[in-house]
Amino acid sequence: MTRKGIVLAGGSGTRLHPVTLGLSKQLLPVYDKPMVYYPLSVLMLAGIREIAVITTPQDQDQFRRTLGDGSQWGISLTYIEQPSPDGLAQAYILAEDFLDGAASAMVLGDNIFFGHGLTDLMRAAPDAGGTVFGYRVADPQRYGVIDFDADGHVRAIVEKPDRPASSYAVTGLYFLDDTAPEKARAVCPSARGELEITSLLEIYLGAGTLRVETMGRGYAWLDTGTHASLLDAGNFVRTLTERQGQQIGCLEEIAFVNEWIDAATLRARAAKFAKNDYGKYIEDLLQSSR
Ligand code: DAU
Repeated sequence: MTRKGIVLAGGSGTRLHPVTLGLSKQLLPVYDKPMVYYPLSVLMLAGIREIAVITTPQDQDQFRRTLGDGSQWGISLTYIEQPSPDGLAQAYILAEDFLDGAASAMVLGDNIFFGHGLTDLMRAAPDAGGTVFGYRVADPQRYGVIDFDADGHVRAIVEKPDRPASSYAVTGLYFLDDTAPEKARAVCPSARGELEITSLLEIYLGAGTLRVETMGRGYAWLDTGTHASLLDAGNFVRTLTERQGQQIGCLEEIAFVNEWIDAATLRARAAKFAKNDYGKYIEDLLQSSR
């Protein structure tokens, strides 16, 4: 069965107040695109076309206006409400009907990934068991942290530990098999009242079916959790885009390269954004494909 995708884009965004009082965090701009474009692009690069977008009930309209039904990118988007932010693992329970027995890749709506080889890394994830990615960070205590034993095997994954066992955080990209909803239902709420993703990963770890791949230093895994890091992420995207003349997270480009949309659809998108550089970039893609 084909793997499906989940973009988890709920949550209250309190750390970015007052910016997020009236607007979902995952729709804030990261330079020239809404933040959610970047994680969505990651799933599309992984070859996934059936994707559920999980949002708060009040933000769902904004997401529908921004992303539509996905047909402009040759994908299908389903919207699911998360009534309250009860934890990342809850996404699998909410998406159980949508997944309908399929394996999945879930990406957090505020996670931005960039790096040569990302597509191959993701496409190598097997359907069975779980695959997550460890990334070295300077401030691991803010994340789910990987505890390795002396042989480099994963001993535990601990959510926001006071004393991190390593500098490796688990990124917000999870490839889990068809048993994820069932396993998520077995997760008990943590002290902060959430169904933690790390608890779900611990179940996979206990069953001996969790693979932890390292994303090396050639990758960028960017944070958008504070006002400063959000601005830094925008500047990162701008710097690379202007230097290379290539977009990061251009969904039309990925869809066209994957042959999910034709030239006519691409042309219509270029026309829609004709007044800015994003539209011109799409127009250039059309010209160079002739
Ligand atoms: O970014 C990777 C980290 O994401 C992992 O290393 C951690 O193990 C994982 O727990 C998570 O940590 P965060 O502190 O970043 O989680 P946060 O509560 O900020 O939620 C991450 C995103 O998911 C955020 O954009 C809001 C959204 N969210 C969060 C919760 C708790 C939801 O959509 N629903 C929720 O119930």
